[in-house]
Amino acid sequence: MYDARRAEEFVGEVLKIVGRGKVFVTTKILLKHLASENKVLKAAKASLKRLGVSEVDLFLIHWPNSWLTIEEQARNFEAVYLKGLARYIGVSNFNLSELKKAIEATRKAEIVVNQVYYSVLNKSIEKDLLPYAIKSGITIQAYTPLEKGAVISNKTIRKIAEKIGKTPVQVTLNYLISRPRTIPIPKTERKNHVEEILGSMRWRLSEKDIGTLEELSKWYRKWIL
Ligand SMILES: NC(=O)c1ccc[n+]([C@@H]2O[C@H](COP(=O)([O-])OP(=O)(O)OC[C@H]3O[C@@H](n4cnc5c(N)ncnc54)[C@H](OP(=O)(O)O)[C@@H]3O)[C@@H](O)[C@H]2O)c1
Repeated sequence: MYDARRAEEFVGEVLKIVGRGKVFVTTKILLKHLASENKVLKAAKASLKRLGVSEVDLFLIHWPNSWLTIEEQARNFEAVYLKGLARYIGVSNFNLSELKKAIEATRKAEIVVNQVYYSVLNKSIEKDLLPYAIKSGITIQAYTPLEKGAVISNKTIRKIAEKIGKTPVQVTLNYLISRPRTIPIPKTERKNHVEEILGSMRWRLSEKDIGTLEELSKWYRKWIL
């Protein structure tokens, strides 16, 4: 889907330069390929070919396919693990009930990740999905964790950042890292932003600042759920 398949080819070129062993490679399957095990395997092999690898570290179902039952698509998708095309499998954009069904449906492979929208300004998953993931050992990959850069202009985040000598981006990401089983996956195309993002690790926000950030956008959580 990304750049008409060229994104995977581009990652493949990067892997050749930096070395396969240095990168945790994740890719996703589109819902239209989930209709049968054969279709899953055909699409997955095409992804691996574009990436130039024999297996990826993590393969995700991009979105649940509403034309199939969750059980059907999870079982068809499990083939990528059983055939050795992925070290781990997971899902993306699955709500709590879909995630539970998918976990129960797989026979031999474990679903280890749910990649979902989660940021300090959008905490809708904290109601039920995150507590379940923590209890069940599922990793939450938080996508759009910087709200596409919007967190930088938030007054509360800026105030905390100024007080502790970090940047708003670092405060935002550290809040997500402080949640059990949560890994934010920010995107950037700039080296200086990569460096700033790296500065969000190896320290912890105080309990008080975490508390303040937990209160942020509570109205949104209540309204949306
Ligand atoms: N599974 C799904 O359905 C799904 C959906 C959406 C996204 N995702 C994944 O989640 C990842 C991130 O999400 P996203 O791209 O939607 O949003 P995001 O990471 O919240 O925001 C990305 C934006 O933030 C900017 N940014 C990054 N670091 C910055 C910094 N230090 N200072 C200022 N601006 C900064 C980037 O600009 P620069 O490039 O200029 O730094 C970019 O415009 C993506 O790589 C994508 O793969 C998954």
